[in-house]
Amino acid sequence: AVIGATAFVLAGCGIAGPGTVSTVGKVAFETPLAIPPLAESTVDADGTRVFSLEARAGTTEFAPGVASETWGFDGSYLGPTLVADRGERVRVDVANALDESTTVHWHGMHLPPEMDGGPHQMVEPGGTWSPEWAIDQPATTLWYHPHPHGETESHVARGLAGMFLLHDEAERALGLPSEYGVDDLPVIVQDAGFSADGRKEDTQRGYAGGLGDELLVNGTRGPFVEVSDELVRLRLLNASTARSYAFAWGDGRPVELIGTDGGLLEASASLDHVRLSPGERAEVLLRVAPGERVVLQSRMTPEIAALDGPVAVMNGGTDEFDVLEVRAAEQLDPSPAPPATLVDVPDLDPSEVAADRRFVLGDSFEINGHAMEMGRIDETVTVGTLERWTVVNDTSLPHSFHVHDVQFRIASIDGQAPPPELAGWKDTIFADPETEYELLMRFEDYADPDTPYMYHCHLLWHEDQGMMGQFAVVEPGQRATMTEETDHDH
Ligand code: C2O
Ligand code: CU
Repeated sequence: AVIGATAFVLAGCGIAGPGTVSTVGKVAFETPLAIPPLAESTVDADGTRVFSLEARAGTTEFAPGVASETWGFDGSYLGPTLVADRGERVRVDVANALDESTTVHWHGMHLPPEMDGGPHQMVEPGGTWSPEWAIDQPATTLWYHPHPHGETESHVARGLAGMFLLHDEAERALGLPSEYGVDDLPVIVQDAGFSADGRKEDTQRGYAGGLGDELLVNGTRGPFVEVSDELVRLRLLNASTARSYAFAWGDGRPVELIGTDGGLLEASASLDHVRLSPGERAEVLLRVAPGERVVLQSRMTPEIAALDGPVAVMNGGTDEFDVLEVRAAEQLDPSPAPPATLVDVPDLDPSEVAADRRFVLGDSFEINGHAMEMGRIDETVTVGTLERWTVVNDTSLPHSFHVHDVQFRIASIDGQAPPPELAGWKDTIFADPETEYELLMRFEDYADPDTPYMYHCHLLWHEDQGMMGQFAVVEPGQRATMTEETDHDH
């Protein structure tokens, strides 16, 4: 049954949502962590790097001998990791072998709106869609997932998601761990529900959306990973549909954060934990000693979740998970210490702001009082300008805010400068209750009055309920239009 927001708020006091979850000390870590394969590519005559992905249905064994029905790209669960360099032109031939329409959105990518894979770029069953664009942004960890309006939560929960890594010269010069699957590890974290015999089941829906009581990392239940280098880079992606995490090391050592959604930081930051809401990424470094075992955990207290008392429904109250065990070999290859300063993260100058907009997240899954409509463009932005978007979570529950096409900077949170983990390039933020965020973003290019980009809450059930809006980027003086073809009525 679907529980609406209003029902939850009215039921209010005393309702604790799905309850407290703890898997700490209960996860056996008996299964080697799956590493999504690197996607193969070819380079065509004009130098374009060409990938292909096929969305398909299949079965996956999360427990030996027990098949679950799942979806994946080129496999039965999740998808391969795409890798490209800044300055390259890429094309991805996306085939849909499912029996329903879907899309593939390149989360965090700067690209033309027709290539974005939002709800206007549906791929019919049996169809192929071939977006093509030039990679023009710093090295970072991006990801891809479906975005069909009203069905995003279910398509992602079934297993459609993968990573898209970008490299550039500035990153290469740092000598960071960069051997994929060896000392540079994709860590795709999702919650899921399982029956007693290990079949993946639909999760229980709380206010945040579907919440499962167990975690999968890269689709592996109870994963461990063996490493043989002193320094390991983990690319954390919260690919859950609703659950947020506060990642920390089990032995209390600090989390060394080097990168956020859109790129590396100016310098690494030592943190107690790194909080990621759905869609957010973090790159962290871990230095290991020979033979040691270190457990990545998530310890989400009501304080970190920005919740208190009876409204602890975001993650079902306090929750804590054992996520992944890192096992260091007895003999480790030495790794150079990472440089003290990483990359230049140039500031955006607020005096250049050409337009101020306000986005109020309200109680009935609306933004500025509206639910998403495929045929309505909510905001029109002039290409080449810097804008300040003030996002206000005007509710007593957490939401999030994601903007397509751009990487933004957080200028302030309730008037204060952001902490280090929110000071770099971001495309998605956890929006704490009753909190105001000022975001600065530049819309460099790709004016197209007919095809909008999206902004939305990345709690995918909220997005499906309409907590989403559309913006078009246009030439100065141009008006946004919605053509009949792009207006798929849902
Ligand atoms: Cu990760 Cu609009 O999505
Ligand atoms: Cu929301």
